[in-house]
Amino acid sequence: MQEKDWARQVSNQIKEKMEKVANRTQHKIPYTTQNGVYDDWSDRICWWTNGFFGGMMWQLYHATKLPLYKQIALENEVKLDQNLMDSQGMDHDSGFKWLPTAVANYRLSGKKEARNRGILAADNLAGRYNLVGRFIRAWNDDGDGSKAGWAIIDCMMNLPLLYWAYEETNDPRYLHVAVNHARTVEQHFFREDGSVNHIVEFDPKTGDFVRAYGGQGYKEGSSWTRGQAWCIYGFTLSYLHTKNTEFLEYARKTADYFIAHIPASGLIPVDFVQPVDCTWEDSTAAVIAACGMLEIAKALEPEEGVSYREAALRLLHAIVENRCNWSDDCDNIVERCTAAYHDKEHEFSIIYGDYFFIEAIWKLTGEELFIW
Ligand code: GLY
Repeated sequence: MQEKDWARQVSNQIKEKMEKVANRTQHKIPYTTQNGVYDDWSDRICWWTNGFFGGMMWQLYHATKLPLYKQIALENEVKLDQNLMDSQGMDHDSGFKWLPTAVANYRLSGKKEARNRGILAADNLAGRYNLVGRFIRAWNDDGDGSKAGWAIIDCMMNLPLLYWAYEETNDPRYLHVAVNHARTVEQHFFREDGSVNHIVEFDPKTGDFVRAYGGQGYKEGSSWTRGQAWCIYGFTLSYLHTKNTEFLEYARKTADYFIAHIPASGLIPVDFVQPVDCTWEDSTAAVIAACGMLEIAKALEPEEGVSYREAALRLLHAIVENRCNWSDDCDNIVERCTAAYHDKEHEFSIIYGDYFFIEAIWKLTGEELFIW
């Protein structure tokens, strides 16, 4: 079967299943499934993944024009206002929360309340920039400053909120913060082989590098696969927004490293250097990396881009053939996702696994709404 036909077939399966799922998931903001039913994190509104269900709804709305999807996405966006008003709940994940919700809405409708939410979130994100260390602070702490110097690779995916705010306001402060953060990542997160650290700690007073942590991966110096995936897609997005080819080169470095470590099965472990007897997988890493690789392929001349497109297709075929649940009785699609190597639970459904799977398939069918 031609790739385009294959992608269209998968896209139809997604639409058929998700219409039923959306009908029974109204008024929820899911993170995972319990016995096949999406749970609801509306009462833990500051959780970093709370924009993905809204984003999924916008992607489905964009592809089908079914009003139900729009209605659910708008409800998700309004619920997030409680987070915008909670200073302790605002961290660097504003891109993950408000790009797939308010900014997506604004791109489609031009509504000024949606733009307002996006700009407020971008202002808060820019306010986390450490002037001497030239990095965006990731997480909050209890007020003791213990995490004031922490930056994490995931933040590369939050930078597009700043690029959007710059494009929207013509105020280059947003651009400077995003570009400087990306340059700090180039300098302090990258290793010789193209892999990246998850967490880097800087001295928040002097900006000096202190140390790196293994974070959600196996150990310090290891290679947490979702972190590699955030880096691939995040640097590609920095390139797409700035046209600075240096960012594309860094995206390629991590993508080359990732591609060289894809197992024969095409299924991605939680960490590329986890112990050989550990079989834990993280399907989210596969679908996020696939999104990044498809964009790298588009940004390059066809002969240079083909290996990235082929790798993305290999990852997506492995997910479709082995890790998709098409049953109407189960709300999630993608299975065997893992939040962190050292967590108690592994291999369950996670909302951003479903989100990035749909985005990746839509990239192949041409149905994507540009979110990032
Ligand atoms: N941004 C946190 C994670 O990827 O788990």
